[in-house]
Amino acid sequence: MSFYGQYYQELTLEKSTFQKILLTWYKGNKRPLPWRLTKDPYRIWLSEIILQQTRISQGLPYYLKFIKAYENIHALAEASEAEVLRHWQGLGYYSRARNMLKCAKLIVDRYEGQFPDKEQDLLKLPGIGKYTTAAIASISFERPVPVIDGNVYRVLSRIFGIMEDIQTSEAQKKFQKLAEELIPDKKPGDYNQAIMEFGALFCKPRNPACKQCLFSAHCFANISGKQNELPSISPKIKPRERYFHYWVIRYEDLLFMKKRNNKDIWQGLYDFPLIETQNQGFDFSRDKMTNYLVKNYPLKNTRTFRHILTHQVICATFYHCPVDSLDEEMLNLLPEEGGFRTPEETERLPKPGLIDKYLKEE
Ligand code: ADE
Repeated sequence: MSFYGQYYQELTLEKSTFQKILLTWYKGNKRPLPWRLTKDPYRIWLSEIILQQTRISQGLPYYLKFIKAYENIHALAEASEAEVLRHWQGLGYYSRARNMLKCAKLIVDRYEGQFPDKEQDLLKLPGIGKYTTAAIASISFERPVPVIDGNVYRVLSRIFGIMEDIQTSEAQKKFQKLAEELIPDKKPGDYNQAIMEFGALFCKPRNPACKQCLFSAHCFANISGKQNELPSISPKIKPRERYFHYWVIRYEDLLFMKKRNNKDIWQGLYDFPLIETQNQGFDFSRDKMTNYLVKNYPLKNTRTFRHILTHQVICATFYHCPVDSLDEEMLNLLPEEGGFRTPEETERLPKPGLIDKYLKEE
């Protein structure tokens, strides 16, 4: 039985040939990215955290910005959360940035600034899961630990004909076992980057480059015309719709902004006083603050944005409300944890992409 036989009966490619094809392809096709010139775990970690759920073209400027601002883990560990979030602004999934800072502090405090090289120690660090552990262990420390991300699911399911829904634990065990068998002891970091790069550039979700692909004669999906059916993913649950009503309160050139502290999206970022409703309609008289503002000030340029997140759609209406004085009654009605900010302060605060977009288009 060939190596492939356990997964797909008719394939004949040997494991060593698979590795060789992939690594040769990588040599000739890889993008010249700054984190590919180093094994420094700080840089590998930073790049991998940024690249989670993010395309390389989008993540690259952020990587360069972070390396410039924080040359090493000590510099990052000393930064404030607000500053790190400000640099992260626009990338989404802000818990990644908050965990990154926690992780940097912990590595400085507990490991004298050196990343641990053992998988079990890496796995315990904030924000470092199985994927990031595998990336750091293989790229920085040459350990044969396979990464499994969306690209890897796609490449392996197509070449080896794994038909199970990738969200099932049965399928995940199968992919894990196959990935562990395939990874070479030599250059495991290059191999891991090669399979992800191959998935991103060649074995793409739509219109894969099967005609130029060196695996085409051996690939289950190509032979059976199932490229569009693999990897098999069950339909997504409909994202939750949420209705946000934002009060954009301006006094002269000052803008009232408020830090988000609750256990919800955008923790630690700044937005405006907000009321959430179950549907689009909004009864101003229901709330003391909005009731006061509506009675005393004309609302201008009300705008609505649809902002799409991974599991939620935010329908945000912005009520532009310029006030001509800061009387005591109003100040008492405004949320305590907020404050009026100058344009420069507003610019420097970390804000959700939605708020940034609104302020740019206002
Ligand atoms: N996606 C995330 N990290 C990557 C890497 N190091 N190489 C290729 N694709 C990636």
